[in-house]
Amino acid sequence: MNTVLVIGATGNVGGQVVAQLKDAGAQVRALARNPDDAGLPPQIEVVGGDLARPETLDRALDGIDTVFLVWVAPADTVEPALERIAKHARRIVFLSAPLKTPHPFFQQPNPARTLAEKLERVIEASGLGWTFLRPGMLAANSRLWWASQIRAGDVVRWPYLSVPTSPIDERDIAAVAVRALCDEGHVGAEYVLTGPESLSQLEQIDIIGRVLGRVLRIEEMSPDEARCELLPIMDLRVVNMLLDAWAAGAGLPALVTSTVGDLTERPARTFREWANDHASEFRS
Ligand SMILES: NC(=O)c1ccc[n+]([C@@H]2O[C@H](COP(=O)([O-])OP(=O)(O)OC[C@H]3O[C@@H](n4cnc5c(N)ncnc54)[C@H](OP(=O)(O)O)[C@@H]3O)[C@@H](O)[C@H]2O)c1
Repeated sequence: MNTVLVIGATGNVGGQVVAQLKDAGAQVRALARNPDDAGLPPQIEVVGGDLARPETLDRALDGIDTVFLVWVAPADTVEPALERIAKHARRIVFLSAPLKTPHPFFQQPNPARTLAEKLERVIEASGLGWTFLRPGMLAANSRLWWASQIRAGDVVRWPYLSVPTSPIDERDIAAVAVRALCDEGHVGAEYVLTGPESLSQLEQIDIIGRVLGRVLRIEEMSPDEARCELLPIMDLRVVNMLLDAWAAGAGLPALVTSTVGDLTERPARTFREWANDHASEFRS
């Protein structure tokens, strides 16, 4: 039986991959740096391991056929970690980004892109059968970006309010991942995944307000203000990466693909559905 190891199992996407693999009846194991704090359902086998210390991965990889990989660790252990994965597994599904999509939003140089490109090169040379998932903006970002402001009051300050993105629900990324992990025919595939509609950032915040039954005052913040005001929630490198992407995407509709619906036979969830299902996280 295909046994899947999910690396990144406690995160936005990996958590959904674990849940949906279980629902699909797959044999699943989760990797976590601190298994006791993983917060996964008790029926899930959780094994300790750290991508930054590749020698810790062997126990989790024992008996594994397929790996779902989320990489948020430093770059210096990419090669040894992939070498270990390739010794045990035959297939890998890697959560990457739309690195090859010509839309300017996805073509700005930044350290996360450099790391993802390196991971792809190493995976391609590893001998593993690979599938790359290339989601655009995650809907889950809005929890980090706007929930604290919305919980604290009615004013939301944000840069590049008019710039559209097509936020994707992490459950839809996971649904595609489960197909790629469990079915044949996905080796060598690169799936660019987006939500179903192009929405400006202002429209996204407004949708959250409407779902909560509140009138939010949404104020434009300059990029320089963002570099100061967003530091409590994001590293400056991440803020700069986002500012560059939004600046490049100004005046253009966001990229929208039909890949989620094509592969899962269910339309991609709207941002309103995501907001409805996460409304409690925006309430004080
Ligand atoms: N946000 C976006 O809009 C967006 C768009 C496209 C692509 N992406 C990509 O999506 C990925 C992030 O996915 P996500 O939001 O699901 O992540 P997340 O919620 O931040 O979760 C990160 C996961 O990685 C695990 N992890 C962290 N360091 C680790 C290490 N050294 N060894 C093993 N596991 C480690 C964490 O597990 P523990 O802490 O429990 O060990 C956690 O499960 C990134 O690679 C990003 O580039 C994001």
